[in-house]
Amino acid sequence: MKAITVVPLKAGSASLEEVAEPAPGEGDVLVETIAVGVCGTDAEIVSGDYGWAPPGRERLVLGHESLGRVVEAPQGSGLAVGDHVVCIVRRPDPVPCYACAAGQWDNCRNGQYTEHGIKSLDGFMRERYRTPADALVKVDAALGLCGVLLEPTTIVAKAWDDVDEIGNRAVWRPEKVLVTGAGPVGLLAALLARQRGLEVHVLDHLEGGAKSRLVERLGATYHTGSVADAVAAPDVILEGTGVPQLVVDAMRSVGSGGVVALLGVGSVGSQLGVDVGSLNRDMVLSNKAVVGSVNANRSHYQSAVTALNAADRDWLAALITRKLPLDRFSEALQHGPDDVKTVMQLSEP
Ligand code: BGC
Repeated sequence: MKAITVVPLKAGSASLEEVAEPAPGEGDVLVETIAVGVCGTDAEIVSGDYGWAPPGRERLVLGHESLGRVVEAPQGSGLAVGDHVVCIVRRPDPVPCYACAAGQWDNCRNGQYTEHGIKSLDGFMRERYRTPADALVKVDAALGLCGVLLEPTTIVAKAWDDVDEIGNRAVWRPEKVLVTGAGPVGLLAALLARQRGLEVHVLDHLEGGAKSRLVERLGATYHTGSVADAVAAPDVILEGTGVPQLVVDAMRSVGSGGVVALLGVGSVGSQLGVDVGSLNRDMVLSNKAVVGSVNANRSHYQSAVTALNAADRDWLAALITRKLPLDRFSEALQHGPDDVKTVMQLSEP
């Protein structure tokens, strides 16, 4: 069958290949891939900056944002042929550490977790895969192709969970939220914020265009310019870009008692002239909190299912701005200004 594979840490090595059918040992559920979303992590892997091949192999099958259809499932697995499913990206470490043992592999303590399409486990840019039933999450088939948005939604569902946990350390009545970056993660973070009835502001560097319309359709406000000019003292900032200046500005601008969640991974090596003493003073004297947040566990997949089911289908569908077959993968990473989510589509939903 066809797959997009890459030699991790080797720039430009991604290619369409013939690979073996999934081995029965990979799990007793056989899934036919419908679509796979392409994200910044895939771009990093393709450019040779990130990623691990499975043990003993040179190449990794790319892709972690999946949507598939069950082709074979054992009795009693809770899955039936035809069900639409998304595979959980991260698998617990084999030790397991106490977080993985508790099902919180997103907070793995020893770093020995694996991730489909990223770290030591093949991903989903292939026609079929096998997995144990407990790695799958059912999604409503009525979502159609929009089910492929589940995985990025889990990232923001986890971020909101973290923000709630931290906010609730004291009396917590958040009203205003700023999201930096109007990519898929930023837009989905804004969706979940609106579903909570919050006043939502989204900051991006692009003037106008599709992203600003998507923000406005949510009943949120789109801004360009600086963090400080977008909204005064928000209770929560969800930073989705990883741009060093925005990270620092978020810490400075979040309101008293507020929470900054960092979700983006940017380039390293920037040396901003930051007055750390004044930043520290402000954060201490205003009880500000900053949390880094990565990946998602099953509870976040469930929250994300609820969020997608409650969302406006047309709005979700508008996030998928390009659908490409596997053999046009090289185009998937060429990002236009109005592109939000590009998906590799392998079969009809
Ligand atoms: C994925 C996460 C993963 C992270 C780090 C993100 O793109 O959505 O599931 O944990 O990359 O590898």
